[in-house]
Amino acid sequence: MTEFTALREDDGRTYIVPLQDEQIKIKGIGRFSPMEVLKTTQNGERVTIGQKVLTKVEVGLPELRKGMKRRAQIINPKDAGFLLAWMGIGAGQTVLEAGHGSGGLALHLANVLGENGTLISVENRPEHAEVGRENMNRAANALKEFPDWTLIEGDVAEASFDEIVDQFDAIILDLPEPWPVISVLSKKLRHGGRIACYCPVSSQLEKAWEACEEAGLEVDWAGEMMERVWTKASRGGVRPGNTPMGHTAFLLIAERT
Ligand SMILES: C[S@@+](CC[C@H](N)C(=O)[O-])C[C@H]1O[C@@H](n2cnc3c(N)ncnc32)[C@H](O)[C@@H]1O
Repeated sequence: MTEFTALREDDGRTYIVPLQDEQIKIKGIGRFSPMEVLKTTQNGERVTIGQKVLTKVEVGLPELRKGMKRRAQIINPKDAGFLLAWMGIGAGQTVLEAGHGSGGLALHLANVLGENGTLISVENRPEHAEVGRENMNRAANALKEFPDWTLIEGDVAEASFDEIVDQFDAIILDLPEPWPVISVLSKKLRHGGRIACYCPVSSQLEKAWEACEEAGLEVDWAGEMMERVWTKASRGGVRPGNTPMGHTAFLLIAERT
């Protein structure tokens, strides 16, 4: 199994590097042989590769997230953290997520489910599944515990989970059109389990909300998370930064009572 390490630039840019003997080209760093260059470098020590001075760090969720390969838009920690907390997702649970995309949310899920947890991801675009699988394989090698993970390549509307699990503790849908599958999937939720929809636009939220109610679910929380980042002022003190507050998505969480 390939081991991974992380190299961090002073501005926070992070690269995930497989500890292999053969030369590798890492975008942003260049070509080098990781084992040769890094074998005597301890975590926290600095290393020069080409023009760059980098710090070697252990790979955890922040490094996996910052250094992940990306194809589809990912769910960021602001929204992932709230979903996990509100839905009560934790060690040993069984969770379904669709679409998997680049695996942004799946990394957060894998990090909390632990080795007794089960995660099923569904993705219908092979090129997205490939990127997601690569990010998750890194996580499987880097995180201290990793759940039993299955990636189903196909449409979530046609996927069958009966041979893998009886029911889910939680389901998270990050799909352009989640409403057609809410009714069928919610029958696989345990009582007290929750389904969430990640809806970039309000029309999606409305349709998902109606579909949840039609499926007999109780909407538990709907809204959006606001994030305001603070910065250090040049003349001293800390204050909200100049970056405007952006929108990611509306979140809808509904419970099977
Ligand atoms: C925004 S991305 C998901 C991002 C992912 N949640 C993350 O945090 O990285 C949405 C994904 O859903 C996939 N998708 C869309 N419709 C789908 C369907 N019916 N079944 C499975 N996947 C689907 C798309 O191919 C895309 O990769």
